[in-house]
Amino acid sequence: MIDLNYIREDFPILDNITYLDSASTSLTPKPVVDAMEEYFLEYNSNAGRGSYKNAIKTTSKMEETREKLSNFINCKKNEIIFTKNTTEGINLISNGFNFKKEDNIIISDIEHHSNFIPWLNLQKKGINIKIAKANEEGIIEKDTINDLLDENTRLIAISHVSNAIGSIQDIEGIEKLVHKNQYKDGTNTYLLVDGAQSVGHINVDMNKLNPDFMAFPGHKGLLGPVGTGFIYIKESNQNLIYPQNLGGGTIVNTDFKDFKLEDSPQRFEGGTQNLAGIIGLGRAIDYIESIGIDNIEKYDKDLTRILYESLNEIDNIITYGSKNNNSIVSFNLNNANPHDICKILDESKNICLRSGHHCAIPAIKHINAKEGTIRSSIHLYNNIEDIEKLVSALKEISFLYSN
Ligand code: ALA
Repeated sequence: MIDLNYIREDFPILDNITYLDSASTSLTPKPVVDAMEEYFLEYNSNAGRGSYKNAIKTTSKMEETREKLSNFINCKKNEIIFTKNTTEGINLISNGFNFKKEDNIIISDIEHHSNFIPWLNLQKKGINIKIAKANEEGIIEKDTINDLLDENTRLIAISHVSNAIGSIQDIEGIEKLVHKNQYKDGTNTYLLVDGAQSVGHINVDMNKLNPDFMAFPGHKGLLGPVGTGFIYIKESNQNLIYPQNLGGGTIVNTDFKDFKLEDSPQRFEGGTQNLAGIIGLGRAIDYIESIGIDNIEKYDKDLTRILYESLNEIDNIITYGSKNNNSIVSFNLNNANPHDICKILDESKNICLRSGHHCAIPAIKHINAKEGTIRSSIHLYNNIEDIEKLVSALKEISFLYSN
């Protein structure tokens, strides 16, 4: 395994804790904090509005981040729309797309609520929601999707990596299936991917995955600040989505009766954006690129496998997913309440883990874990010692929970 221990100095918070909750939010490296501090202390101003030097600098910094993101995921600059999180991006599509009564939308039974509830909500407009059931390891098999596709299927919305189980979907394979399917008007079915748990952990390339829409957070795999996110909307699909946040910055002109929308991305980015956050996110992309996404992907994969296998060696532990999970391993200690275990590990060893349903009740029902799970999730600042600490702490208490 390559050695990434040298970067831990950029995360001083790690001096006091063992952090295994990066699927919730990742830790922020010092250079990202510095970039935001510089914005506030040296050129604090709005973007896309003023013509004085500081305002021009802020505008160009914001556009630099857009450019870095577009290079990072391999798409055009105008295909990146800033949002405050993944959820907002998915809601832009679910509310902005002109779905027709009796359209079908396919989702899966291991989704986060962000990629579940916005679609279920469309049932109120007469849209049918079909649910693809994942297999035991949390994989949605292509045959399962194939059986649900028909001429009324307008869109399929699926997560790249499950936030609750860590299973990773074959998006390239699913994309081919989805785009081959003909909707009744002769166009094809659209694919939306929730990239909340994949970007920054594995190489996410729009040319390879070819989704129509893909929603991302800035504050998880990418190591950006909380309150940042973005959605990729393929250029040819941009007229299919009606902006949901009209206002400052979104129009070219108005004659008091009507208005003309700006092109993308401006039409989708109403109001002042989270400028400090976006500038921090730009610095975070530099940080990730200085290590290299392929190195991170390999490191992540190796560490996740060690985490999965080490947990499986402990008596009374039940793990979910498989050793091929991506950066997330969910588990339970027999019938112990996962919140109790997390509390004990925090109080006695300063180990930070998430417990419960992880905003993914469908996924928790899928694995039949009644009170939810204990979820350990890693990123590039974690090391083998973190895993050893978790394993040894669990070994100390596991006998209390034997059957
Ligand atoms: N979606 C985040 C998680 O899975 C908050 O924890």
